[in-house]
Amino acid sequence: MSKEAKLELDGKVYSLPTLTGSEGEKAVDVSTLRATTNYITIDDGYGNTGSCASKVTFIDGDQGILRYRGIPIEELAEKSTFVETAYLIIYGELPNAVELKRFSDLLGTHQFLHEDMKYHFEGFPTGAHPMAILSSMINAASCFDEGLMKWQWGKMKQFDVYVAKLISQVRTIAAYSYRKSHGLPLIYPKQNYKYTENFLHMLFSMPYEDFQLKPEVVKALDLIFLLHADHEQNCSTSTVRMVASSQANLFASCAAGVCALWGPLHGGANQAVLEMLADIHNSGDDGSKFITASKDKNSGKKLMGFGHRVYKNHDPRATIIKKACDDVLAKLHITDPLLDIAKKLEEAALKDSYFVERKLYPNVDFYSGIIMRAIGIPVEMFTVIFAIGRMPGWIANYKEIMDEPKSRIYRPRQIYTGKTVNHYVDLEARK
Ligand code: SDX
Repeated sequence: MSKEAKLELDGKVYSLPTLTGSEGEKAVDVSTLRATTNYITIDDGYGNTGSCASKVTFIDGDQGILRYRGIPIEELAEKSTFVETAYLIIYGELPNAVELKRFSDLLGTHQFLHEDMKYHFEGFPTGAHPMAILSSMINAASCFDEGLMKWQWGKMKQFDVYVAKLISQVRTIAAYSYRKSHGLPLIYPKQNYKYTENFLHMLFSMPYEDFQLKPEVVKALDLIFLLHADHEQNCSTSTVRMVASSQANLFASCAAGVCALWGPLHGGANQAVLEMLADIHNSGDDGSKFITASKDKNSGKKLMGFGHRVYKNHDPRATIIKKACDDVLAKLHITDPLLDIAKKLEEAALKDSYFVERKLYPNVDFYSGIIMRAIGIPVEMFTVIFAIGRMPGWIANYKEIMDEPKSRIYRPRQIYTGKTVNHYVDLEARK
């Protein structure tokens, strides 16, 4: 028998059921609140509101813990690959050799876009932001697939094929969007290349010369994808669940996730961090002026890449990426003044009472841009890289809704604070 919460309202005491998750997280179930009390809850930014129960990812923000299907991110970062971790996140278990080969083969089979998609790319102006192209082209790609246009909610024997299509084609679309925004010829994927190799090939090869794949570059990018693969109910994943709850198809729901991710407070932060570091560097500031400004609410400046709604301790992904930064730059014999500035900013902020009191630590976006810059990814593609990495998490959350027979459409309530009833006034009578 679960514990009950007691709520006293207008002289009456109500009992509300509670539930406890597998890691001891506790919740008060308010699903009967409105019917029994005529009250609803309200929670600006949903900081205290759980939208669902989920089996995919566990985060303990106080301990700095992140686990995909129970496996610590540190172990996956050290031993796994993005494709294997994508399988784990979506299907719940690490694949055996047969399952991994089948998944990899499906990704290879479905990596090409319909040839007519090229005409859609032609429609974008040079310089169009790749996130705008990515979100629209995911939906455009679905128009070439009858199964997506006639989506059979819950009856998807072919769901695995659509999982592979989306994970594979988002990479192809991303590479093409970069090539298009730079006026470069499209480069087709190679059948014998693995996932991340093919992405770099499609990004940087030329018709007359294949891009030289350095193992340390491939591994660094694969790690970036893996570290971004899921993160429980963040803004974009909640958006995917919101759209999925209407029983829209998988591509439409994840295209919505791309739009939510683009914002600078969310996935767009990795691009904003690099722009912030470059501004600090170009202004000759050693970072101290910027730190002062970022504490001043009127400055309009934030220390981008710092802070997190859940982590009130180090984001374990930031710790892993910071080390990978040092490794990759050393292997590539690169010294980057922006990395030095980032380290100075982190050091200064972690000693500054403003940041310490508010438990603001580096998040996944603080160092990821430095690695991407070192391996040659252009800054406008940083959030696209995040979207490619996050696709398995979005798909896993979509699948949880589709697999739940009792799932309902997401439809929050509100408290109305507008005008009380008033009446139409003819134009002539208006002041
Ligand atoms: C991601 O949710 C996820 O899991 C997201 C993500 C994922 O994997 O999906 O982890 C990826 O989006 C990481 C976050 C990337 N965004 C940034 O780095 C942008 C900079 N960070 C902030 O905008 C902010 O910290 C958020 C958006 C990340 C969190 O915002 P919250 O939880 O709403 O916190 P808040 O804005 O209410 O801040 C609390 C206080 C405020 O000061 P006071 O009003 O208490 O005086 O901390 C201050 C804020 O002004 N603050 C910052 C700050 N972040 C918070 N001050 C300066 N610089 C910052 N970066």
